[in-house]
Amino acid sequence: MKKASKPLVLINFKTYKEAAGKKALFLAKQLVGIKENRYEIIVAPSLLTIKEIAERTKLKIFSQHADNVTLGAHTGSISIEELISIGVKGTILNHSEKKIPLHLLKETVEICKNKKFTTVVCASTLSEIKKIAGLCPDYIAYEPKELIGGNISVTQSKPEIIIKAVELVKNLCPKAKLLCGAGVHSKEDLGQALLLGSEGVLIGHAVPKAKNPGKFLKEMLI
Ligand code: G3P
Repeated sequence: MKKASKPLVLINFKTYKEAAGKKALFLAKQLVGIKENRYEIIVAPSLLTIKEIAERTKLKIFSQHADNVTLGAHTGSISIEELISIGVKGTILNHSEKKIPLHLLKETVEICKNKKFTTVVCASTLSEIKKIAGLCPDYIAYEPKELIGGNISVTQSKPEIIIKAVELVKNLCPKAKLLCGAGVHSKEDLGQALLLGSEGVLIGHAVPKAKNPGKFLKEMLI
């Protein structure tokens, strides 16, 4: 019997000023001490801070984006092999702030699969979830664009969509897991997300912008 995997809590640092440059490592270190055995905590720092955080903390690190390239003549691209070489374990793809055309997304997911690099592919609507489920990434993250950055949680505002999204993913790609994100900022939001059938959440502003990010996240995980 396959051991049930822990719900995922993925904290997307984006390029918030509280999580950029020198502040990124300071923020990451506040999250290191959180001994939480019921959740898998992953952080996604900005591209320019990811190597330092991967090398100087024990946090599990995902990138916020990756390109459909292998090592070679791809000026300005982010190669999955290079991310792997600096200790990154997976990537967010197609975030609503960094959309990827479906044909390129398909190629990127394929490269990630070949390299056993975990993929969290974002989708803003049920119809987009349908399309992305066809790529069978590891995770599909339902994030309605209009709720991102706000304090109305996707679990409060779109519970019926989350339930439908869970069903869709189960039918179209049983191996993939549904996550949800946008406005998630409390333990109630996290609990509701799991009750609705998702297998974790993505969190953006609530953690980096908290007065005490470590304490804030710890209280979310109670
Ligand atoms: O990737 C997660 C992010 O888009 C959610 O943002 O600020 O609504 O938690 P936020």
